[in-house]
Amino acid sequence: MATVSEPVKRPQIRQTQCFIGGKWVPSASGKTFPTYHPATEEVIADVAEGDADDVDAAVDAAREALEKGAWSKMDARDRGQLMYKLADLIEDEADELAALETLDNGKPIHDASTADIPLVVDCLRYYAGFADKIHGQTIPVRGNYFTYTRREPVGVVGQIIPWNFPALMVAWKWGPALAAGCTIVMKPAEQTPLSCLRMARLAQKAGIPDGVINVVPGYGPTAGASIVKHPGVDKVAFTGEMSTAQTIMRDASTTLKRLTFELGGKSPNIVFADADLDAAAKGAHFALYFNQGQCCCAGSRLFVEDSIHDEFVDRLAEMNTNRRVGDPFDPTTEQGPQVDQAQFDKILNYIEIGKSEGATCVTGGNRAGDRGYFVQPTLFTNVQDEMKIAREEIFGPVLSVLRFSDFDEIVKRANNTSFGLAAAVWSRDIGKAHRIAQKVRAGTVWVNCYDVFDAAAPFGGFKMSGLGRELGEAGLQAYTETKTVTVSLG
Ligand code: NAI
Ligand code: MG
Repeated sequence: MATVSEPVKRPQIRQTQCFIGGKWVPSASGKTFPTYHPATEEVIADVAEGDADDVDAAVDAAREALEKGAWSKMDARDRGQLMYKLADLIEDEADELAALETLDNGKPIHDASTADIPLVVDCLRYYAGFADKIHGQTIPVRGNYFTYTRREPVGVVGQIIPWNFPALMVAWKWGPALAAGCTIVMKPAEQTPLSCLRMARLAQKAGIPDGVINVVPGYGPTAGASIVKHPGVDKVAFTGEMSTAQTIMRDASTTLKRLTFELGGKSPNIVFADADLDAAAKGAHFALYFNQGQCCCAGSRLFVEDSIHDEFVDRLAEMNTNRRVGDPFDPTTEQGPQVDQAQFDKILNYIEIGKSEGATCVTGGNRAGDRGYFVQPTLFTNVQDEMKIAREEIFGPVLSVLRFSDFDEIVKRANNTSFGLAAAVWSRDIGKAHRIAQKVRAGTVWVNCYDVFDAAAPFGGFKMSGLGRELGEAGLQAYTETKTVTVSLG
């Protein structure tokens, strides 16, 4: 699809109901909520609005599937085969799923079809291979005993995901959960429920037994909070805003649920004067503006060494001037709209704050066009560490450039944040790059690259950017409980 030059046709919307115990059902209340196409602000579908009753039904179905159904008796290898099958079906429908993602989220069709959906398929296949390779240990203990461990599914897992990579977040959550043998109650983001519902239909087609995957669309404080508080849910995996995670942690404390969080950041991207400046400029631009700036790991604090600062800013400004902002269904579009009115308003407000704090707005600074949630690619220089735009997550196409001049100073400033999701360093001095990688307090560090994700590479945050890890073998841990069995040898 990446090579198509005609605007891509809008996909059909087939699933808009709750998916519970293998059945498509309206919400118990009969309520629905609208989901929008962010490029035109028009309603594209009304989706079942789940709440506590629907979550109850979904948890019952998931519990039943965990303890009694075919899933509970299935060999691990067969579980893996069903996951491969799901990945195949998604691959077969990749074009339609990518278009659904563009319709619901507004991301350019080029990104949806070359990044999001291929990564979904890859992630599910990666974890499918793990299903029969989740090993325990045999452990030498004192005395005449034989001790071994089993890694059992943690149980019914509640999964609450955001709207920035709707389908990919489904894969990151379903992959390890299914491999481990858990059952799932998922709530997609209210802004982008459609690809998740489509994937649930494909899971059903793949033969994943009823009740293993349940999807309850709806809002956070209602459907989301009901999942978090439900005594029948053993673990919650959440991706989203830090303050939402704090609420979830409080709500989950009554039942002491296992929690994993993947939250936001204000990731430092450090460019030394000895870097390959061409690669660094392209990388720094991609690090922030990819996905309309709606990335948890966006390189939103760009630290540029003094001696190359002005030249570097010129390169970034030129890329912004040439950036193709517009209809996300046009395959040549590089930047689409923000996801919704709330994000659009929040970003424009941060831009005003940046201007009033005294930063210099080099490009952009306004909305683009007069319909849809488009924001011009915006670049601020003369940004100081204590300014709001250098401290808070903007989650939009707004880049802050800060200057630095020495190594110790930059390490300190890079770490002067409550976040710790990602960081990057650009330098031809490999020793210096590794020293930065060691000293920066972040879950992922990229050297001379940015946003390189792989299903096999753990991802998650230090400090207030998260709890636990997703992806890789590390991502399985949160979906298993370790049971120790000790046998007397008589
Ligand atoms: P959010 O954290 O409110 O939403 C994420 C998910 O959590 C959604 O499915 C939402 O319905 C659910 N949720 C909300 N309140 C909940 C509650 N009390 N209990 C259970 N679930 C709940 O994020 P939102 O409002 O969509 O975006 C706000 C900001 O969060 C963004 O501007 C951005 O800074 C950050 N964010 C970070 C993301 C990341 O990937 N780390 C993704 C999305 C947003
Ligand atoms: Mg919110």
